[in-house]
Amino acid sequence: MYSKKLMEHFLNPRNKGKLEDADAVGRVGNPVCGDVMHIYIKVKDGRIEKIGWETLGCAAAIATSSMLSELAKGKTLEEAMKISKKDIADALEGLPPIKMHCSNLAAEGLHKAIENYLHKGEKIKELMKVMSKEDAEALFKAGITSLEELKKAPMEEIANAVSKEGLEKIRKFLKK
Ligand code: FES
Repeated sequence: MYSKKLMEHFLNPRNKGKLEDADAVGRVGNPVCGDVMHIYIKVKDGRIEKIGWETLGCAAAIATSSMLSELAKGKTLEEAMKISKKDIADALEGLPPIKMHCSNLAAEGLHKAIENYLHKGEKIKELMKVMSKEDAEALFKAGITSLEELKKAPMEEIANAVSKEGLEKIRKFLKK
């Protein structure tokens, strides 16, 4: 069912793991299966200098994260924005049609990370309507970058990122 290339990336994933010094994170969930992916980027002179990822998902999701990281590394933000799910699937020598949504997740996660990077100031400002700057920055680092996303994020993930006071404010806002 899976190509040789895909299995190779699944068994030997590249650039796996969180980037502690990331400039931005793209956090995406897969509505089809409920899996979650984080793509971390470090940008230098307009290029993706470093990339990392954490993926809770199937073999195809792991392999697409790995391949995406190889495709995106060293690219300008503009070039990286153009990486599509088809590019990733092609580079993996094809994906079973039923697994195409998994590669969608990787491309979307990267685009989200870039978008967050480019609009960091506005995103933090929006979160600051509900919480302090420190907490807004902590949430941004966890990949939760708008009030809309805050509403959908699991409480546990929010609690892990922000301070106690921040959590109180967020609970009030979410009425939870
Ligand atoms: S089945 Fe969830 S990402 Fe592939």
